[in-house]
Amino acid sequence: MDAIEAITRRVSVAQLTDPAPSQEQIDVLFQAAFRAPDHAWMRPSRYLTIEGDARQRLGEVFYQEQSALETLSAEKQQKLRNMLNRAPLVIVAITKIQDHPKVPRDEQILSTGAGVQNMLIAAHAMGLGAIWRTGAMAESQAVRDALGVASDELITAFLYIGQINTKPKPVPVVATADYVQAWTGE
Ligand SMILES: Cc1cc2nc3c(=O)[nH]c(=O)nc-3n(C[C@H](O)[C@H](O)[C@H](O)COP(=O)(O)O)c2cc1C
Repeated sequence: MDAIEAITRRVSVAQLTDPAPSQEQIDVLFQAAFRAPDHAWMRPSRYLTIEGDARQRLGEVFYQEQSALETLSAEKQQKLRNMLNRAPLVIVAITKIQDHPKVPRDEQILSTGAGVQNMLIAAHAMGLGAIWRTGAMAESQAVRDALGVASDELITAFLYIGQINTKPKPVPVVATADYVQAWTGE
């Protein structure tokens, strides 16, 4: 697939099924992520892969934490426990925030975000579906602890990836003029 087509025709896909991407495809995804712009080459981003039974284990951690906070309906319990099972592969993108005289915190998070976007595009180019999610799980202390996310790190994305089993939604049409103006300085 042409690069411009991959970038401009990508849509997020929420319903994803087995099989998981091959090891070769996963390697491509990470090589794409590693080409994210990175001010001062700080390498702020690292990644975890979650597949198979590990997805249920993390869902259980999230469920246990939430059930200690409130009474959950059976439906909600099921939803939390199966949160990660919405795709055969979940990549957790983590940003390590470091003090740097020229690179503020936001730039470090943006670098990880650029890596995640590269992975979304690479997944699309390989015919895989993917969606970037965060939500309460990204903030959960129990989830952070279970994943080994340190106090100076942030979960920037849960990237759900798998096969597309439904017709992808249409690419929205956005008029350039609605978001782009020429600034002339006059
Ligand atoms: C930082 C970030 C976090 C997001 N978190 C969620 C999320 O938790 N759940 C969700 O359904 N979509 C989330 N989204 C939005 C989807 O990834 C997606 O962009 C949106 O559904 C629009 O689809 P599109 O990418 O096809 O335009 C998030 C997007 C970003 C950039």
